[in-house]
Amino acid sequence: MKVGIDKLHFATSHLYVDMAELATARQAEPDKYLIGIGQSQMAVIPPSQDAVTLAANAAYPMLTAADIEAIDLLIVGTESGVDNSKASAIYVAHLLGLNRRVRAIEMKEACYAATAGVRLAQEHVQAHPDKKALVIGTDIARYGLKSAGEPTQGGGAVAMLISADPQVLALSDQSCLLSEDVMDFWRPLYHTEALVDGKYSSNIYIDYFQDVFKGYLEATETQPEALTALVFHLPYTKMGLKALRSVLPMVDEAQQATWLAHFEHARQLNRQVGNLYTGSLYLSLLSQLLTDPDLKAGDRLGLFSYGSGAEGEFYTGELQANYQQGLDLGLPQRLTKRQRVSVAEYERLFNGQLAWKAEDQDLDYQNDPHRFVLAGQRDEQRQYFDQQAEKQL
Ligand code: CAA
Repeated sequence: MKVGIDKLHFATSHLYVDMAELATARQAEPDKYLIGIGQSQMAVIPPSQDAVTLAANAAYPMLTAADIEAIDLLIVGTESGVDNSKASAIYVAHLLGLNRRVRAIEMKEACYAATAGVRLAQEHVQAHPDKKALVIGTDIARYGLKSAGEPTQGGGAVAMLISADPQVLALSDQSCLLSEDVMDFWRPLYHTEALVDGKYSSNIYIDYFQDVFKGYLEATETQPEALTALVFHLPYTKMGLKALRSVLPMVDEAQQATWLAHFEHARQLNRQVGNLYTGSLYLSLLSQLLTDPDLKAGDRLGLFSYGSGAEGEFYTGELQANYQQGLDLGLPQRLTKRQRVSVAEYERLFNGQLAWKAEDQDLDYQNDPHRFVLAGQRDEQRQYFDQQAEKQL
């Protein structure tokens, strides 16, 4: 039985900052950000969006009443959690109106957690083919204003419906995993921004990719040429290019050219959004499927997931006949229609997040066009609002 991704949808903010403008403001050459880092625009997440609202905004447009009825597992992968006890998945299940009989949990292992969710959901559906699982990777990447990591910020959520006989991608049973204790990127509980050893993290990423990629090929006796394209976690799009280049000597020149050409499609949308931690690999998959004209049913895609700390996994998926039907087809246009903000406005929004303190707080959400917004905090409880239904949740 085939099990895999049946639907794939994305949400981010309606605001972005231009990377050439940000580079100039930081006394850097624009080409450092545009080419050296590989980012053209960066999503600016306003205070009215958090990991919960991004997740719900990503999922609700793709879910039918029949999907909601069949979903008995919700896994939210995030490293931007809003509570140390209560899972963001509980809030998300409530916002989406999921069945009360759903198992709703939050998972954490840096940018890797959504992949853990997908793999567990796959096993769940294999055991219960009449059920569906909803897996969402949702994050806001924050390193701090004027930090080296600043041009690799961003944010958003990718929602995936996992089912039997999936429309989009049938996932391989086998995968290759690696996890070790590495201090390349972390965020102690008292920090709102990540701590990172940037160059070290980039080197570890490549080491992990090579290890699990080669491990997968060996264990499954797969020739690298059997993979039409390789899709990567993209903390910044140059990172995926570096990893891809590191394995090009394994294939002949024609295959190298094919992989490089497909990769340009896989990074197209990530170039406009930036990092979104857990969702990044799956935004890249969406980018590949939405923008690449040279794909066909039966093509096998390799997926590399990496979470600092560190955990990596490589697995594959086979493209299904009507894969376009399960995709977020309006996404490229939505990204084009976003509003550009100045560097000063981006800095104001960056500093305007709900503060980690007990007092009541109100957030300005009037200009946020998304259905689900964070309206503030009352009696130490987050206040979510459904703008479509005009009701407090
Ligand atoms: N034109 C073209 N290219 C230029 C240029 C110019 N004018 N000026 C500089 N460059 C190039 C540099 O040569 C360099 O290219 P290479 O990496 O290919 O050598 C690139 O631009 C970046 O320049 P620097 O190395 O000087 O950049 P930096 O020191 O300011 O920091 C960074 C870069 C380390 C990625 C930093 O942004 C960072 O720490 N980011 C966060 C950490 C991160 O994303 N790590 C990735 C792996 S960890 C992971 O994947 C998990 C996760 O999501 C966080």
